[in-house]
Amino acid sequence: MAIPLITHPDIAAFAQARVNLPSDRAKECREQVNRLRERLETHIAENPGFALVKMLHAGSVAKGTGLRTLNDLDVAVYVKKEAVPIRDQDLVPWLAARLREANPNLKPEQFDESQPHCVKISFRGSGLDVDVVPVLYEGAPNDLGYLIDKDTGTRLLTSIPRHLEFIRKRKKARPDHFAQVVRLVKWWADQRKAANPNFKCKSFLIELVIAYLADRGHDLSDYRHALEMIFSYIVKSGLEERIAFSDYYPASKLPAPTRSAIEVFDPVNPANNIAEKYSFFDRDALVRAAEEAADAISEAHYATTKARAVECWQIVLGLSFRG
Ligand SMILES: Nc1ncnc2c1ncn2[C@@H]1O[C@H](COP(=O)(O)OP(=O)(O)OP(=O)(O)O)[C@@H](O)[C@H]1O
Ligand SMILES: [Mg+2]
Repeated sequence: MAIPLITHPDIAAFAQARVNLPSDRAKECREQVNRLRERLETHIAENPGFALVKMLHAGSVAKGTGLRTLNDLDVAVYVKKEAVPIRDQDLVPWLAARLREANPNLKPEQFDESQPHCVKISFRGSGLDVDVVPVLYEGAPNDLGYLIDKDTGTRLLTSIPRHLEFIRKRKKARPDHFAQVVRLVKWWADQRKAANPNFKCKSFLIELVIAYLADRGHDLSDYRHALEMIFSYIVKSGLEERIAFSDYYPASKLPAPTRSAIEVFDPVNPANNIAEKYSFFDRDALVRAAEEAADAISEAHYATTKARAVECWQIVLGLSFRG
């Protein structure tokens, strides 16, 4: 049998050159969030009783799964539940006002209230924008609080630090490869979203599906093989298989089958299906796209010319993949 013309080193080199957020930029991003956090901590220390409790870096840069195309940073601000305005529509302006108080060094207009469920702190020129999402907190252990979903405004009982711990555990079990494979699949999803704005495949879903497969012993160290394995799993399962983890609760805590098209449970809270908002239509589109990717990878495997193999891989990784 002929040797495949595109193999692991080609995918790894592409990831390094095109997909991954370079480590120096990731460091700058973390420092930017740290500065905000330190300022908030100082303000809290000087103003006991302040309504904001703490700030945690929550998104892909915190998890080490950020892409080069990253356009904003995610932070969660824990807020005292009893201090929050009753009406939902008052929450964002209220949070923006508190953040302005804590950051007198920034201009008031840098705190953008135009998004429905988060405050965007804009750092034009000096860094990436920071999306601040509130977590309504009543002092529960393990930082469990109600995260307001940035996109939908839904209140989700969860714990950001435990999510970070969950991902760190998987990264530790597969140094480099877990995060790299997550980034490659996120990259694939971004290509699909660029082609079809209705395509849904959020990063946290990708991370949990890959964590599930890694926990079951699948190897991630060869990226060509790992991608084929992941897409084939999505096709075979049709995403109809329930995905859950026993890090923080036993399987017995999970609900009876729900009517959701996809069931991927928050590792922290068995009542939170993180894919609850996906319709049957969304699921089918996701499975079809995975099928197309799996077929392309398998065709590339047997391609007899490099040009054809590259063409196949471009279906998965986009036109910037040149082999
Ligand atoms: N449905 C959800 N339930 C609980 N927590 C969630 C949910 N969606 C997102 N989160 C939390 O928000 C964090 C960031 O969300 P998500 O993973 O989708 O974006 P990201 O990692 O910042 O990726 P990127 O911005 O690169 O797309 C997650 O790590 C998780 O802690
Ligand atoms: Mg993000």
